[in-house]
Amino acid sequence: MPRLFVARKLSLDARPIVGPQVELDLWDDELPPSRAELLARVARADGLLALLSERVDAELLAAAPSLRVVANHAVGVDNVDIPACTARKVWVTNTPGAVTESTADLTWALILAVARRVGEGERFVRSGGYKSWSPTLLLGLELRGATLGIVGLGRIGQAVARRAAGFGMQVLHTTSRGGVPLEELLARSDVVSLHCPLTAATRHLIDARRLAQMKRGAILVNTSRGPVVDEAALAAALESGHLGGAGLDVFEHEPALHPALMDREDVVVLPHLGSATHATRAQMATMALTDAARVLRGERPLNPVNEVRP
Ligand code: DGY
Repeated sequence: MPRLFVARKLSLDARPIVGPQVELDLWDDELPPSRAELLARVARADGLLALLSERVDAELLAAAPSLRVVANHAVGVDNVDIPACTARKVWVTNTPGAVTESTADLTWALILAVARRVGEGERFVRSGGYKSWSPTLLLGLELRGATLGIVGLGRIGQAVARRAAGFGMQVLHTTSRGGVPLEELLARSDVVSLHCPLTAATRHLIDARRLAQMKRGAILVNTSRGPVVDEAALAAALESGHLGGAGLDVFEHEPALHPALMDREDVVVLPHLGSATHATRAQMATMALTDAARVLRGERPLNPVNEVRP
């Protein structure tokens, strides 16, 4: 019977989804297996359900001679060496669509939290600082009439843009195929929100030069991938007063956050919660398990990222 290694505790019971023809090897923990443990488990596996923390590279593929499918429990696949998988005839699948609305909602949670200083206000009350209502207390950015710049107009970028209409914002976008040039978007936007995949071209896309092109006082929000932003440069842009604030759901070296960002009042940070709703996580797990089981039964996956020829 083909064996599927599931590299993390999931939000639902995997057994009814993969069915009786697939043997499950479950890593029933919220923390990932060590690299050594992962390599040992995939050595006996025909399929791997991976998360972003599982690097699927030449070393892993060499350790997994029977591997036929890597089902990524994510829409992003920057943790997977796709050409190496294709060369080894290993299918790679992801979970497109599942994370769109929840990630767009969380993007707005960050935009609002930074623009309206929600974290600062909460800390102020809890620390006993609130003595009286004041016309000058914790003033923030009014979103109505402000400009939102969306970098990457895929499913999530579009869902973020749809919500902007409700806040009365103007929307600009830039993509590799159109919209306004990135320099123009950065110069005109009061809020810049990142929604591009992590590739060689987007690693440190937002560096010191790009941050300097942003409007003075503007806010940067990242719910895409941490390495799209140079965190040291971001910390410097905030420290100099050029940027007004930042909202980060993803970090350059996750789970670690750059120490210079850790204690800043103008930065709101979350532990990669973009897709963290009950409904989305159940859908992601179902999609990944379904595709893993399909490949292990000899069927074509529903959400392939690569093409494997027999
Ligand atoms: C994804 O799907 O790529 C997310 O980052 C995980 O929630």
